[in-house]
Amino acid sequence: MSVVVVVGTQWGDEGKGKVVDYYASQADMVIRYCGGANAGHTIVSQGKKYKFHHMPSGALYSGKTNIMGNGTVIDPKKLLEEIDSLKQSGITPNLIISPRAHVVLPYHFVLDGAEEEKKGAMAAGTTKRGIGPCYSDKAARFGIRISDLLNSKLFKEKLHTMHQVKSRIIEGAYGMHFTQTEEQIFLQYAEYAKRLAPFVKDTTGIIGAALSKKRKILLEGAQATMLDIDHGMYPFCTSSNTTAGGACTGSGIGPTAINEVVGVVKVYTSRVGSGPLPTELFDAVGNSIRDKGGEYGTTTGRPRRIGWLDIPTLRYSAQVNGLTGLAFTRLDTLSGQKKVKICTHYDFDGEKLFTFPASYADLERCKPAYKEFPGWEDLGDSGWKAAAKKGYKSLPKEARAYLEFISKEVNVPTYIIGVGPARDDAIVLKDVFRSK
Ligand code: GDP
Ligand code: IMO
Ligand code: MG
Repeated sequence: MSVVVVVGTQWGDEGKGKVVDYYASQADMVIRYCGGANAGHTIVSQGKKYKFHHMPSGALYSGKTNIMGNGTVIDPKKLLEEIDSLKQSGITPNLIISPRAHVVLPYHFVLDGAEEEKKGAMAAGTTKRGIGPCYSDKAARFGIRISDLLNSKLFKEKLHTMHQVKSRIIEGAYGMHFTQTEEQIFLQYAEYAKRLAPFVKDTTGIIGAALSKKRKILLEGAQATMLDIDHGMYPFCTSSNTTAGGACTGSGIGPTAINEVVGVVKVYTSRVGSGPLPTELFDAVGNSIRDKGGEYGTTTGRPRRIGWLDIPTLRYSAQVNGLTGLAFTRLDTLSGQKKVKICTHYDFDGEKLFTFPASYADLERCKPAYKEFPGWEDLGDSGWKAAAKKGYKSLPKEARAYLEFISKEVNVPTYIIGVGPARDDAIVLKDVFRSK
C-alpha cells in the first residue's frame, strides 16, 4: 500500500494528529490537504506535547517530506511561528508549500468575526482564523495565492484591488472601520513572503514523482466529515472539503492512487462550535468525560461539547469517505463509567433514520435511540501503557465488545485503538504501510 488518507469521521479533534504521527514513522511524505490554522493537531512524543495548526504531523521525524497542499489556506504569521517554535526544539522540518495554496489576509480575520455576528443563530462558532472569507475569495477567484504573494508586483496590484473592495464591505455591510492600510499589509506580507519563499516549490510535480517511485504517502485530513462544506452539517461546518475526496483535489492525487482511507473515531462524540449535536450530554457524565479527557479546543481553548458515540454519523462517514479502516481513540478516557451508550439510529417523527439527514433543521428534530453497554475499568496510566504493549486481548472485555459493535455496525474493520495520548499508547491491529 502506498497512498493512505487519514480523515476525521465526526466533528473534529478525534486525534488525527496522533494517528498521522504514528503512521508517519513508516511514510515518506505527509500532505495536509485542506483547512488552515483552524486545525489544531496534537502530538505527544517523548513526553513533549506539540500542537500543530498548519504543519503536517510528520514534522517530528527527520527525513520525511511534509507538504502543505494546494487545498490549504495559509496564515503566514502562524506558519512562521510554528516553524520557529519547532526550530527552538531542535527540529528543522522538511516543509514544502504549494504555490497554489491561498493566503489568509488581515481583512479575512475581520470579515470572519463580522460575518459570524451577522449570522446570529446561524453562526458556526468559527475559530476566527479567517477561513470562511479566504475560501470564499478562492471560490470567487478573488483570492491571493502563495505564488501571487511571492510575486511582489502582482501581490501589490491584487492587494490594491482587494483592500478597496474589502474596506468598503467592512464599512458598508458591517459598519466597521478596517484599520490596516494597504501599505502596512504590503510591507508585513512582503516580509512573510521573503521568509516563506525557500519553502515554496511545485508540490504537484514533487508528489507526481513520489507516486511514480511508489513512495509511501500519507494524506492528513483536518477538521472532519461533519465539518465538510458539502457533506457536513451545513451551515455549521467549515469551508473546505475535509473528506477523502478533498484529499485528491487538495493535493493533486487522483482517486485511483488511493489505497486506504482510515477514519479516526473518538469513542464518544465531541464538538467545538455551534449547531445541533443529537447525542450531546448536559449532565454529570458529559462533564466527567470532558474533565477526564481535558476536552478543551486545541486552537481556541473552548470547552468541547461532549456526547455519546453516534453511529448514524459514522455510517454516513464510512460512505462519503469510502473508509477502509477505523482508528479508535480515547478508549482510556471513556473508561470508568458504569454504563456507556451508543446511538444506533435516530427517531425522526416516528421514522427510523440510520444515517445522517441533509438538513440541520431535520437533525434538530432527530431523537437518538440508544443501546446501552456495560462500562469498562480504568486501568490507569501504567495499565493502559501495559495494554498497548500486550495487545488487543489484554483490553477489558467490555471495551472489546463496545469496539466490535461499532466496527460491525459500520462494516469497517479496526486498524488501531488509542489508549492514551502518546505515540506508543496504541494497539495496532493492522498497519497500513506494512503488511502486519
Ligand atoms: P485532531 O485535531 O484530530 O488532531 O485532535 P486534537 O489534537 O485536537 O485533539 C485530540 C486530543 O486527544 C489531543 O489532546 C490528543 O493528545 C488526545 N488523544 C489522542 N488519542 C488519544 C487517546 O487514545 N487517549 C487519550 N487519552 N488522548 C488521546
Ligand atoms: P481539527 O483539524 C474541531 C469548527 C469550528 C466551527 C466550524 C467552522 O483540529 O479537528 P472555521 O474556523 O473552520 O470557519 O470554523 O468548524 N472547526 C473545528 N472543530 N476541530 C477542528 O479542526 C476544527 N476546525 C474548524 O469550531 O464550528
Ligand atoms: Mg484538533
